[in-house]
Amino acid sequence: MHAITIPKPGGPEALVWSEVPDPEPGPGEVVVEVSASAVNRADLLQRQGHYPPPPGAPAYPGLECSGVVAALGRGVTGWQVGDEVCALLAGGGYAERVAVPAGQLLPVPAGVDVVDAAALPEVACTVWSNVVRLARLAEGETLLVHGGGSGIGTFAIQLGVALGATVVVTARAGKHERLRELGATHTIDYREQDFVEEVRRVTDGRGADVILDIMGAAYLPRNVAALATGGRLVVIGMQGGRKGELDLGMLLAKRGTIHATALRSRPLDEKAEIVRGVREQVWPLVESGAVRPVVHGRAKLADAADAHRLIETSDHLGKVLLVR
Ligand SMILES: NC(=O)c1ccc[n+]([C@@H]2O[C@H](COP(=O)([O-])OP(=O)(O)OC[C@H]3O[C@@H](n4cnc5c(N)ncnc54)[C@H](OP(=O)(O)O)[C@@H]3O)[C@@H](O)[C@H]2O)c1
Repeated sequence: MHAITIPKPGGPEALVWSEVPDPEPGPGEVVVEVSASAVNRADLLQRQGHYPPPPGAPAYPGLECSGVVAALGRGVTGWQVGDEVCALLAGGGYAERVAVPAGQLLPVPAGVDVVDAAALPEVACTVWSNVVRLARLAEGETLLVHGGGSGIGTFAIQLGVALGATVVVTARAGKHERLRELGATHTIDYREQDFVEEVRRVTDGRGADVILDIMGAAYLPRNVAALATGGRLVVIGMQGGRKGELDLGMLLAKRGTIHATALRSRPLDEKAEIVRGVREQVWPLVESGAVRPVVHGRAKLADAADAHRLIETSDHLGKVLLVR
């Protein structure tokens, strides 16, 4: 089969479409014939040599895929050869075939094209596990999503709205109209406006109950300032650095909580539990049309370098798919 390999870390040109051995399904695994994968920001870090796959994961990039079950390993139940699926991966999605632990498979939701389904697993699992399971976003609360136009952000807006929250986002101005169409109530141009002031203004001074943050250190003090009493800050990205300053006095006075999580390195049983939760709680929202894959565009899997160039400009909104 073919896969995107990274013989030497570097720029987008480091992604090379190569002939590689076919994967074999291990016990409890399924081989998926890939229809599509999708680009995640973490893939750019892996390409640059900064985010190696965890032990046991396929060497090729790609944290999610969709396609058809091609082979079953020993002990797999509940799936058949020929089933249309999408999957959360620790790597290996940029390939014609990939072996996946069966606990990380999801059916393609009714009403979603099998190719578009590749846009869902990583964002659904990340957003649900952090915003719903960990931060317990409740109806009537305010959710602040940084980077509302990202793959993660476009999903978080829709899930927040579907759960009855008011969603406030930061994004560059050119993306605001589309983000309001997705359900964001308030859009903040982080380049021109102070998001702390804006969040306070639109919440009558209360602040945000839950903040989904991708900026890390650069936003830590201001995120704490923007939290409501009893607020929960969840850091899932470090685009603004990893070492920040934390005013514990302010956090304590607000009885606030800070979480920081990563999905890729979690043990298989935790991933399977998250996938089960997504299937039970998020898939019905996708099937009802309340939450949809937001696809900016499609590139050929063999031309993954072009998709990486686009993501580096940040001109995309939502997900960029890589199609066979
Ligand atoms: N921890 C985990 O398990 C996990 C899992 C998945 C993703 N993530 C993280 O989630 C983030 C989003 O991932 P993705 O693949 O969806 O990324 P993406 O589509 O490439 O989006 C990156 C976003 O960052 C935004 N951004 C850049 N500077 C900003 C600033 N100063 N303030 C607010 N937003 C800013 C950009 O917004 P504009 O275009 O509007 O400038 C862009 O929408 C990444 O940091 C990724 O590492 C974490």
